[in-house]
Amino acid sequence: MSYVIAIDGPGGAGKSTIARLVAAKLGITYVDTGAMYRAAAVFLNRRKIDKDDDKSIEKAVSDMDITFSNERVLLNGEDVSKKIRENDVSKMASEYSANPAVRDKLTALQRQMGKTVSLVMDGRDIGSNVFKDAKYKFYLTASPEIRAERRYKELKERGEDIEFNKILEDIKTRDERDMNRKLNPLKMADGAVLVDSTDINIDGVVEEILSNIEER
Ligand code: DC
Repeated sequence: MSYVIAIDGPGGAGKSTIARLVAAKLGITYVDTGAMYRAAAVFLNRRKIDKDDDKSIEKAVSDMDITFSNERVLLNGEDVSKKIRENDVSKMASEYSANPAVRDKLTALQRQMGKTVSLVMDGRDIGSNVFKDAKYKFYLTASPEIRAERRYKELKERGEDIEFNKILEDIKTRDERDMNRKLNPLKMADGAVLVDSTDINIDGVVEEILSNIEER
């Protein structure tokens, strides 16, 4: 029987690193739904559609296809894996993700992916909406300061020139938006296990998650 492990939490909590490691340990597929919202933002932004222009967004998303190939993110066949990690795209993704047509489209794609195979899926609304009946649910978080510090290091390594305080501010604004939007806001799903990674390293978090999984 296939099963789903849902990992939700705010930006920069380490969800994708942890989810990828958990999936590799279990030999199952990893799906990064944040990458899908990021790719959708790139798509809509290229068409210069305003984040509040619901009509145009609804029309445009019918031409949008987002798939994964060996962990590369493909937007209508184009590899946008690098592009979606740019700092500006974080803000755009958080803004466009409040739109109902964007959410409907991506939720449907995500549910389709979990139909036949076991998955680790990370995002904001996986345990609370996309896979409400997921066998396992986790809520992974860390303090805003620690998340900003991790993000700062990551962007520096990638050669992006950005100030720490700007990142911290962006993280707080994004938390606020992701937690307070009308549709499927970020919240801890019923039955989710809370994991706070502020004072635990990556291996420790992976261990904590795996200790809850029967199939390990
Ligand atoms: O996890 P991330 O930082 O790559 O996600 C980018 C944005 O996408 C995030 O700010 C909110 C949105 N998102 C969402 O609304 N629902 C998800 N399941 C995943 C991401």
